[in-house]
Parts: sequence; structure tokens; C-alpha cells
Amino acid sequence: MSAGKIVFTQDRIRRRTEEIAREIAGAIPGGDLHVIVTLKGALFFAVDLIRALGREATLGFITASSYGGGTESSGEVDLRTEDIGEVAGRHVLIVEDIIDTGRTLKIAVAAIQSLGPASVRTAALIDKPSRREVEIDAEFTGFRVDDIFLVGYGLDCDQEYRTLPDIRSLGP
Ligand code: IMP
Ligand code: MG
Repeated sequence: MSAGKIVFTQDRIRRRTEEIAREIAGAIPGGDLHVIVTLKGALFFAVDLIRALGREATLGFITASSYGGGTESSGEVDLRTEDIGEVAGRHVLIVEDIIDTGRTLKIAVAAIQSLGPASVRTAALIDKPSRREVEIDAEFTGFRVDDIFLVGYGLDCDQEYRTLPDIRSLGP
């Protein structure tokens, strides 16, 4: 398989990211903001979103893996939180790449909630609502897509294609 047709161009991603940043700026109260990036997929989106937010924030990272190499989730999520940062009493924004079954986000939110934040909100670049298996949604969503596997702009298939500038479908 290789990267197929462009689904979201760089330019469209940039414009939508700026819109989401404005929504977030209006919704998250002033005070300590802690942005938690879910590695590695959300890396590109997080950088562009944080820059567009133009607001002082501390950064933390979590690493979630559920894909054992293919395009289907294994159903088990391995969450690493060593670099999650200072969460207690702060407004947390989780930046996620894609919500698919919802398992990763659900586990990440629970882990963060257990650390006593002032509030927790989630921004996801892409949502695949038809794939959901557990009940969870992001407050801020970039694009909704059907059941297609996407690569590029941080999204990978078996660690490939992350550095493509646009988001593409995975195809022949
Ligand atoms: P979930 O736990 O099933 O919601 O899976 C979420 C994670 O699976 C995302 O954070 C991505 O890392 C990965 N994922 C889901 N769909 C895609 C896709 O279309 N392309 C690349 N990664 C994906
Ligand atoms: Mg991810």
C-alpha cells in the first residue's frame, strides 16, 4: 500500500487549525493552561495549533499505542505518561490526532482526570464517528470523515508517511 489521494490539503488543514484555535481561545478560561500532546500522531497538529493559539502554555506528552502495525486497532491501549507534566489545578487541553474507536481518548482522559486538573478539554484534528466503540467526543474537532484510513501530517501506517505535508488516504 502507498499514500493515495489527498483528502485534506496543507492549506485546508492550516485554515481549519486557525479556526479551532479561535474556538479554544474563546472557551478555555484564563489561568494556567497545560497542553498535553498525544504522541506521535498529533505532533504536527499540536505544534500548529499551539502556535495559532498564541497563548502561554506548559506542555506535556503522552504516548498511546494500540495499532500493532496494521490499520485496525488491537483494542488494547498502552498509555505512557512519564512526561505528562504538571496537571493538578490546571486547565488541560489534550491534543489528539484522530478519534477512531474512542478507546485511546477515553483512557487518556481518565488518566488525566485522576491527577486533579481544573478542567479537561480535547481537540482532535479528525473524528471518525461511525467507528466509535466507546462513548467519548472531543470538544473541538477539525474534520469528520467516514471509515477511511488516513496518513500524513503526523498520521502513520506502521510508522510510515508521517512526514507527508498533506493528509492522504491509504490506497494502492
Ligand atoms: P482509537 O483508540 O481507536 O480511537 O484510536 C485512536 C488512535 O488510532 C489515533 O490516535 C491514531 O493514532 C490511530 N488511528 C486511528 N485512525 C487512524 C488513521 O486513519 N490513520 C492513522 N492513525 C489512525
Ligand atoms: Mg494517536
